[in-house]
Amino acid sequence: MKSRQLLAFLLLGSGLATAGTNVPAVTATNSEPSATTPTVMPTPPPASDPNHPVSSVPAETKSQRDARMAWWRNAKFGMFIHWGVYSVPAGYYKGQPVKGIGEWIMNKGKIPMTEYQSFAKGFTADKFDASQFVATAKNAGMKYIVITSKHHDGFAMFDTKVNDWNIVKASPFKRDPLKELAEECRKQGIKLGFYYSQAQDWNNGGSAAGGKWDKAQEHSMDDYVDKTAIPQIKEILTNYGADTPAVVWWDTPIDMNNERASRIDAVIQKLRPGLIQNNRLGGGTKGDTETPEQHIPPQGYPGRDWETCMTLNDTWGFKKDDQNWKSLETIIRNLCDIASKGGNYLLNVGPDSHGEIPPESVKRLADVGAWMKVNGDAIYGTTATPFGEELGKPTESVDGYGKKRPTSSGNVWRATQKPGHVYLIIFQWPTDGKFSVPAFAHKITGAKLLANPAVKLTLSQDDKGVTVSGLPVKAPDAIASVIDLTY
Ligand code: GLC
Repeated sequence: MKSRQLLAFLLLGSGLATAGTNVPAVTATNSEPSATTPTVMPTPPPASDPNHPVSSVPAETKSQRDARMAWWRNAKFGMFIHWGVYSVPAGYYKGQPVKGIGEWIMNKGKIPMTEYQSFAKGFTADKFDASQFVATAKNAGMKYIVITSKHHDGFAMFDTKVNDWNIVKASPFKRDPLKELAEECRKQGIKLGFYYSQAQDWNNGGSAAGGKWDKAQEHSMDDYVDKTAIPQIKEILTNYGADTPAVVWWDTPIDMNNERASRIDAVIQKLRPGLIQNNRLGGGTKGDTETPEQHIPPQGYPGRDWETCMTLNDTWGFKKDDQNWKSLETIIRNLCDIASKGGNYLLNVGPDSHGEIPPESVKRLADVGAWMKVNGDAIYGTTATPFGEELGKPTESVDGYGKKRPTSSGNVWRATQKPGHVYLIIFQWPTDGKFSVPAFAHKITGAKLLANPAVKLTLSQDDKGVTVSGLPVKAPDAIASVIDLTY
């Protein structure tokens, strides 16, 4: 407990805890406000909530923030959906594979605007069924969905009145999938958030990582922000019911100076005050959530709300050749690792141009769901480990982009907690029927296996730690078994 608090203090003090605007390396230099643009920095908000000094709502108190973030903190597990026109080329341009993540094909392949726009004719979405998307998420134990309402290719996946580069006007599908999803999410009791690429827009005159490649892209950034981004943001904030979006998920703030970002934030605060926003709006604005991408930081972000977003294979948007699927073990242990550090896991699916989530994804998600049905108490509504020793010393790993990142070296167990409970999540099951953890402040009075509460376990506790005995020889779950300690 103590060491985590100390770490939180050190990280916040050094500014490291807020440095998590994760954009691909190529975009990093462009995301700063330009030196020539006058910036209007808001006066620093009073630090009314020492645990969450960074927030999209200046000056809110701890209890206001806790209330605003409550559902999100309890949810722990969400589905990211990257779906758009890029699923038509599916990683290929002119018969050649294009390297990199699928939704970046227009940029990486330097595809001219008119050529890229013609892909929309193949975006049939003929198998799309909102109820299945939502059921797939629910079946996995996910509590929220965040879908790309518009990605960097500028294609609106909704019925926008702002331009014709949208799913209703430019594709044979002609329907608004966000509307259908909003209705289904409401019906099935799950939250729906919208990703919106507020800065990069390769078809409507927004910015472009690495520079533009087609004369037709040349455009004033302010004009794009005021005439495309802001009007569309108004649409996604108001056309889908008072509860939707539950989150707005910004990305890659290239050329997003403080003036532009403040104009966007003003729209949010006017139409949906206090809406949960991630930390990628840019221009010096604050978000509510850190967004480590494709990796799990060794200590999480103590004192901050955070969410690791991750792909199930190596791409966000559908690529027909990408079969590098993560194992169920990796997915479940990632979820446990993240929860044990107080974060959320936003796990991506990339439906194809017919609107089908790849079966490999559906299968894995169903299997995670089976684990969650038994062990979900150790995940939902929990906070970070009361111990910390189990994380081990940070070690180096390679993230989903091939970048070196620090990660936790400990791989034997994890822990989460909520009032009255400490959950021991065991990856490497002991062979001697005993499992010990370090000292715990409260007197433990009960222990049971979530997978088999009938097994009688015995407890001993002293100032050095807690030992649970009587564990079965065989792990109740080969990937992660949970002991629920009560106090
Ligand atoms: C990146 C990419 C993007 C993806 C996102 C998910 O920043 O630009 O394609 O949507 O990460 O976090």
